[in-house]
Amino acid sequence: MAMHGTLDHLLGLELLPAEQIVEILDQADKFKEINQRKIKKVPTLRGLTVINFFAENSTRTRMSFEIAGKRLSADTVNFSASGSSFAKGETLLDTAKNLAAMHPDIIILRHAMTGAPHFLAKHVDAAIVNAGDGAHEHPTQALLDMMTIREHKGRLKGLVVAIVGDITNSRVARSNIFGMTKLGVEVRVCGPATMLPIGIERLGVEVFHDIDRAVTGADVVMMLRIQKERTSDPLFPNDREYSRFFGLNARRLALAKQDVLVMHPGPMNRGVELASDVADGPWSVILEQVSNGVALRMAVLYLCAAQRLSE
Ligand code: NCD
Repeated sequence: MAMHGTLDHLLGLELLPAEQIVEILDQADKFKEINQRKIKKVPTLRGLTVINFFAENSTRTRMSFEIAGKRLSADTVNFSASGSSFAKGETLLDTAKNLAAMHPDIIILRHAMTGAPHFLAKHVDAAIVNAGDGAHEHPTQALLDMMTIREHKGRLKGLVVAIVGDITNSRVARSNIFGMTKLGVEVRVCGPATMLPIGIERLGVEVFHDIDRAVTGADVVMMLRIQKERTSDPLFPNDREYSRFFGLNARRLALAKQDVLVMHPGPMNRGVELASDVADGPWSVILEQVSNGVALRMAVLYLCAAQRLSE
């Protein structure tokens, strides 16, 4: 168990205590300022090695982990599945053991398999950070979302957050549900019945099938991409019909609170889940999420490093 002010790993938010979530958010707030300086680098993680191990596609998450490591002066090394021995049939465990033999301090892992980072944490001596495991969790995305909301609203407790889209396949939704409910957010989930897991209300959320009702009175509306790469069956009619029933447009957004925030983890499909004028409109904090992602990931790397340096 990590000491106060440290993290041994960051595998998910399901089992992370609320106090540790707040600690990460507070640390991220402090790091934010470094990203606005002319010279964006501090020596905090000098001498530590961070491996970005991405076995699934990524733009924002991989780049921001890399930038976060570099701004803290860690040596960051990128490793993606295509172009590695991973594509030649090496198992995850063998790849991981070989990486561990080079003595990295932190391994950031994105993998299509649920539980892959938990597995790695058991078998290699490095702090493991989950950058998305299948449709399971994506803790740093949810943390940066909470950071962005808290920054605008000054709090999380008591806010109404509507998460709309492909809930079943969304690791972003799951991590946000775990994290936000712990911090007292009233979470609504909304999507077509085929994209809402049965029993999701047991996670403490309210289920909606009608987007108009879901966004009514909401403080935050978070739109999700349909994870077409994770749905094999033809459960999804077509983009136009989806957009008509579940897309966020200006008319629907007017049902939310006046100071509503519109969020999206990216990559967004303009005109499908989100109308372009809403994505680019004054309520949108989508690019702020990306900026905050760097500070948040700096905080996670820092807290993991602090744990290892204290051992
Ligand atoms: C998400 C992901 O990969 O889980 N993107 C991200 O990391 N910001 C969401 C998505 O792919 O739709």
